[in-house]
Amino acid sequence: MDVRQYVAEELGAARRRSLDILEPLDDDRLRRQHSPLMSPLVWDLAHIGNFEELWLLRAVAGAAPIDPSLDDLYDAFRHPRPNRPALPLLGPAEARRYVADVRGRVVDTLDRLDPDRPDQPLLAGGYVYGMVVQHEHQHDETMLATLQLMADPGYRPLAPPPPAGRPVDGDVLVPAGPFTMGTDDEAWAYDNERPAHVVDLAAFRIDAAPVTNRQYSGFVTDGGYDEPRLWTDEGWAWRNKAGLHAPELWRAEGGGRWTRNRFGWREDLPLDEPVQHVCWYEADAYARWAGGRLPTEAEWEKAASWSSESVKRRWPWGEGEPTPERANLGGRHFGPAPVGAYPAGVSGYGCHQMIGDVWEWTSSDFEPYPGFVTFPYREYSEVFFGSGYKVLRGGSWATSPLAARTTFRNWDYPIRRQIFAGFRCARDA
Ligand SMILES: [Fe+2]
Repeated sequence: MDVRQYVAEELGAARRRSLDILEPLDDDRLRRQHSPLMSPLVWDLAHIGNFEELWLLRAVAGAAPIDPSLDDLYDAFRHPRPNRPALPLLGPAEARRYVADVRGRVVDTLDRLDPDRPDQPLLAGGYVYGMVVQHEHQHDETMLATLQLMADPGYRPLAPPPPAGRPVDGDVLVPAGPFTMGTDDEAWAYDNERPAHVVDLAAFRIDAAPVTNRQYSGFVTDGGYDEPRLWTDEGWAWRNKAGLHAPELWRAEGGGRWTRNRFGWREDLPLDEPVQHVCWYEADAYARWAGGRLPTEAEWEKAASWSSESVKRRWPWGEGEPTPERANLGGRHFGPAPVGAYPAGVSGYGCHQMIGDVWEWTSSDFEPYPGFVTFPYREYSEVFFGSGYKVLRGGSWATSPLAARTTFRNWDYPIRRQIFAGFRCARDA
């Protein structure tokens, strides 16, 4: 497909998704801050438009600012999340008008996009458009995390149920040897995924599926939260300070029964779904309890994207598109699918659900690859390197397929639980 046409379709799809997510909410719920960890939803919406204006109208097309005061209001670095509700933000109707205005002007400039200009790295392969599309989808996921934290009344979109699961047992062996980590040729990959480089790993074993709620509840009932030897010193200190005793949103109902809150509605804990809303410290303690450890980021990527054929795969299953039979992405089912629901999406080494369902914590800190070059701005990746962040991989049920490739890197603080994150365990072989 022509790059211009592809860009136009993906911009449109991202916008439909953003507006659909916000559509059921009245103005009060759009303006309110539902958690100090998150922005008011109306901030996210106008920020999406402002980012698009900065890159696609001003950087690419050289346009003048639509309203210069907006750049400050919607600059994530100038205003930390807890301070955003006090800003003179655009209201919901104004924000919708603003993002539509920006989008209209962007569409008008699209016919000038020449993706075959090697002298213009922002435009090569439509890169900057891909960056803006991914940014919007990444904020859509952030907005869904906000909605999960929203208090009564809950949020209940219509979504078809995921495919049925089936038992996935044990772990798989990933033999020793080199593999290619990162990418040079994925057109819309971020700077932190580059450059491709060879990493030689010892043999290891990794769980064939993410840790389920059933498995995780075994850790809880076995006293895993009360056994300091299972936790790192920082993890134990955080467990005490934050009063952790089970994943966020779980509630013990007596007799070993658990319920959990899903978008404001209480339901029986779905035992075969991957566990969600655990922080890195909890994942790390569980892995120790289970006789393993978290995989490194490199181990995760090798298990997801390599095989005995020694060819880098764009997706765990190969090069085919991420269809609904292969992975649970894009909010299609509005939650994780049970393990074993995607046999068509299994990786070359036999791992299920590496992409979609839940982000997976790794043991690795967020650091640049050898030869890293900032592109196109320091605030996407560089300012976060080495600042105590842990890397997450694989995307969640809420992640767009455009931002869930096997090389994509996400990062967050080890205390964070509001993201759609779970994990799987690894062991030395
Ligand atoms: Fe942003």
